[in-house]
This record gives sequence, C-alpha cells and structure tokens, in this order.
Amino acid sequence: MPFDFDEIIDRRGTAAVKWDKYAEPDVIPMWVADMDFRSPPSVVDAVRQRVEHGVFGYTDCPPELNAVIVAHLARVYGWTVKPEWLMWLPGLVTGINLVCRAIGEEGDNVVTATPVYHPFLTAPVNQQRGVVRVPMRLEGNRWLWDFERLEASITPHSKLLLLCNPHNPVGRVFSREELGELGRIAAKHDLVICSDEIHCGLILDPDKSHVPMATLGDDVSARTITLMAASKTFNLPGLGCAFALVSNASLRKRLERAAAGIVPRVTAPGFAATLAAYRDGEPWRLALVDYLRGNRDLVMDRIEATAGLSMTPLEATYLAWIDARATQLREPAKFFEQAGVGLYDGKVFDGEGYVRLNFACPRSVLVKALDRMAEALQRRTSA
Ligand SMILES: Cc1ncc(COP(=O)(O)O)c(C=O)c1O
Repeated sequence: MPFDFDEIIDRRGTAAVKWDKYAEPDVIPMWVADMDFRSPPSVVDAVRQRVEHGVFGYTDCPPELNAVIVAHLARVYGWTVKPEWLMWLPGLVTGINLVCRAIGEEGDNVVTATPVYHPFLTAPVNQQRGVVRVPMRLEGNRWLWDFERLEASITPHSKLLLLCNPHNPVGRVFSREELGELGRIAAKHDLVICSDEIHCGLILDPDKSHVPMATLGDDVSARTITLMAASKTFNLPGLGCAFALVSNASLRKRLERAAAGIVPRVTAPGFAATLAAYRDGEPWRLALVDYLRGNRDLVMDRIEATAGLSMTPLEATYLAWIDARATQLREPAKFFEQAGVGLYDGKVFDGEGYVRLNFACPRSVLVKALDRMAEALQRRTSA
C-alpha cells in the first residue's frame, strides 16, 4: 500500500509546539520529537469515527485494546504479559515522574546514563530525588553504558535505574548482553529498573531488534517497570495515551498509590488511535521505518561530509545526535538556528557541544535543512 511521506503538510496554525517555537517563519523546526507526517489512514479513520459519535464521557480502555497489546507483545518480542500488568497513562513523561515518586524516599537517588532525554534528569528532582549521572562512553563509534562507572556510582541511597531503550539521543539499540549486565547490576544493588521503550517501533537497522528489558528473566521482570506507547511510532503524542507494564503486583500498587488523584484518565480519541495503531498500523509502520532509514542515511552522509560535524551510526529513532565540537562554535544550536534550522541544543540532554536533529520530515525539507547547515559552516570558514 503506498503511503506518501514526501507530502509537505503545513502544520502552522495548528498550535504545533514544534512549529510555533519560531516567530521567524523561515526556520525549519527539527527539535522536539514528533513527526511531520500524517498518522496512518487507519488511525485517522478510527479517531474520526470516535469523534463522529459525538459523546465524550469518561472512558476506560476498550477491552479489545488490552488483548491487542498482549498479542502484539507476544508476536513481536515473544513476551507473555497479562492484561492486569497494564496501567494506562496520559504520557510517558507522566510515567517517568510517577515512577520516581513511587520508588524510594525523598533524598534517595536515581541513576541514569547521559546524555539522555531530559525528563530523565528533571523527573527525579521534581520528585525530591537526586540524580546520579553516569556518562556513557564512546568505544570506536558506539555509545556504551559504562558498567564500571555505573557500579561505582551506586550508593545505599540509589533505588532506581532509569533506562532509555532504545536510547534517545544516541540512537543505540541495546543488545541482550548489554541489558543482561544492567539487570545483573540492578539485582546486585536491589534497584528497580524503569525501562522507557517508547522508541521500540523505530528500529532502523534491519539486523537489530528491540529486546524489552523485562524479557530478560524472572528476576529482571519482577524489578522492571516498562513504559511504552504507540505515540512515537504512529505520531500520536498530542493524543496523550501511554501505558506501563508491571508484572510485580507490589510495584504496581506503589505506582497506583503515587498516581491516585493526580493522573487523569486517557481520553477516548487517545484510546481509539492507540487501538487502531497496534491493530492495523503495521504496513504503515514498515513503510515509515523504510523512509526514515533513507533519511537517516542521508543525514549520516551529509554530516560526515561537513567539516566540523560528525555522528555515530544511528540504530534507532529519528533523532540524529550530531557532534559539533570540532566547529569550535560556542553555541552550535544558536548558530544553526540563525542559519534557518531549529535544532535541540545538546546541553539539554547533558551533551555540551552536540545538537539533536529530528529527521522525521519529508526528504525535500531535510535536504534543505542540511544544505543550510553546510552552507552556514562554509560561509563561516571562508569569512
Ligand atoms: C525517551 C522518551 N520518552 C518519553 C518521551 C515523551 O513521552 P510522552 O510524550 O508520552 O510524555 C519522549 C519524547 O521524545 C522520549 O524520547
């Protein structure tokens, strides 16, 4: 079935966070992580049908959705989950904050590897916990968890390990062995693991596959809270629908207690879209991943050919993590913004000197942005 990812859809005037950031209309926004593609037709139809019903009372998860998710996880990852493990949430960031609130006490700490998606760094602080940052290490051109440094950083106050799997922003798909080592360390120090797997539908390398952390064995499963959503893969973040999977009943209780009276229900359109995405969206997802792979290859080629910029192979996500340190620019994000490309400043993720570029847009737009970046650097060196 043909899906047109080349179509340019004007998002201005829709209060889109990504597009409304820049008053200057000529800046191409490539910062926040949503896509400039329309969601799959099956998802748009399902939401339209639900909207046409016209009654928007309090809504529970449609019974079919639990069954669809259980079947999806079994089919794709060989992961057997029970419907009662599911806890619905209006978003992953809510989930990350809830987990930080539910695990440990005020003054305890949360361990994570940097650079990382910034709510991993702010959620613990929001919930009166400390953050222990373990810098990832670059071996050759691969970003790795530094297990030695991780172990050395853990204190008796460390209660929670926050894992981004696949990893935003470095784009790694962690192997079973790497995850196994994290599981071993978590067990040794009795840490709860929160595994954010929101990007798991966006594995770009055909020889890599996503391994849910909780599938590593009974001990790991019992200490893991997995966070997932259809929102990244199917471009639904504005509909607010995500879920936690927790096999351990007492952990689930702690989460429910932390959520009581604070976390709102998921909305009817959010449920309708998520159901259609998992049930009917696979052909679209395959076409999307193929398109994103083409965009990723283009970004890699062009960045590597631009003096001063470099990037490591990106195995997953549509977010390129670009090392701009060799340009000696004090503020690379600002420099590229002035050149008409709105990137995320790496500092936000604890990656000074880097920028993050979201390439989930029509290829013609991407080419224009990469041209602008290269030309701006060229002008600077010849000035
Ligand atoms: C790793 C990760 N977790 C969570 C989110 C956001 O989740 P939500 O929009 O459901 O709060 C993002 C968005 O970029 C992300 O990259």
